[in-house]
Amino acid sequence: MTYKELLESARQSFGEHCKACPVCNGRACGNQIPGPGAKGMGDVAIRNFEAWQKVRVNMNTIAENKTPDTSFDFFGLKMRYPLFAGPVGAVNLHYGDKLDDISYNNILVSAAAEAGIAAFTGDGTNPEVMKAATKAVAAAGGQGIPTVKPWDINTLEEKFALVADSKSFAVAMDVDAAGLPFLQGLTPPAGSKTVPELSDIIAKAGKPFIVKGIMTVQGALDAIRAGASAIIVSNHGGRVLDQTPSTAEVLEEIAAAVRSADAENNRHTIILVDGGIRSGTDVFKAIALGADAVLIARPFVTAVYGGGSDGVKLYTEKIGKELADTMKMCGVSSLSEISTKNLFQPKSAYIRF
Ligand SMILES: Cc1cc2nc3c(=O)[nH]c(=O)nc-3n(C[C@H](O)[C@H](O)[C@H](O)COP(=O)(O)O)c2cc1C
Repeated sequence: MTYKELLESARQSFGEHCKACPVCNGRACGNQIPGPGAKGMGDVAIRNFEAWQKVRVNMNTIAENKTPDTSFDFFGLKMRYPLFAGPVGAVNLHYGDKLDDISYNNILVSAAAEAGIAAFTGDGTNPEVMKAATKAVAAAGGQGIPTVKPWDINTLEEKFALVADSKSFAVAMDVDAAGLPFLQGLTPPAGSKTVPELSDIIAKAGKPFIVKGIMTVQGALDAIRAGASAIIVSNHGGRVLDQTPSTAEVLEEIAAAVRSADAENNRHTIILVDGGIRSGTDVFKAIALGADAVLIARPFVTAVYGGGSDGVKLYTEKIGKELADTMKMCGVSSLSEISTKNLFQPKSAYIRF
């Protein structure tokens, strides 16, 4: 199967909302929710994608001719690439009835683990989703990250018991899900968390805790103060609040603040980022701007609907090879060498894009 064939197959499998575009840039789906679009005006997903395209890399092949090492250590797991499949919930509603969250996570989690990366699973109002997701993670030897919504503490304790059984190496919470239209006013209740509330949740989680949905320096420092081991710079692909900046625009400042807080406390908070990352070159740029690794969400749905397990492996390889190629062409041989020195800073007053 080629990537083009995968996209053609996904077009046959999807419902009416996602067009499986050659590049998933947020334009065709716009503000369609239900569907994979963004909230309100619907331009945040577009801005996420376009911001990465504005960042350019410095080519430099006067360097040692080494095979780039793309491996990434994550809470003791040696991954092939600094890449995760992002959590996506309610796939049947947004992408069509061919799959539901249970069958989707079953395919994604095992295929991602076989491809040498790991998948985050989503959560929803149906309790069966988290039960099945944690079983899928357990079947993959714990190589997956259950993501819980910001429920009330009683509901979270029930979910954490399932997470413990999954033997996952970490657990995540999309704290920004408070903005999802379908979570508002529902039972069980979900919503924003204060630092003390988040501290209590993290203490009860019993695993390294990842806070997803950070878009400000203050949010990052609060998450760390509450005990998070990792943060995900994310605007939920534009689905929880309209008119936010893109993640690429805020990443550098957040990463600098986290690294300086880390230096004072002699620790390393893992910084992940998502939103419109669509190539290995985008992964390289995200690492240069301060991320340790990235999540890609919507294109993995296309990979699963279009090609099942093989689709996930093909897409992972595609991104991984592009990353290795970019590293080689920019003269770096390990992820730790990638820095803002590898990014182009325009100096010419004569040409501006
Ligand atoms: C249909 C859909 C459902 C999603 N469901 C979840 C979810 O359950 N939990 C979560 O943390 N993020 C969820 N997300 C957000 C993604 O994980 C990710 O943050 C966002 O899509 C940006 O990444 P992308 O541009 O690579 O898609 C969802 C996104 C989409 C499009």
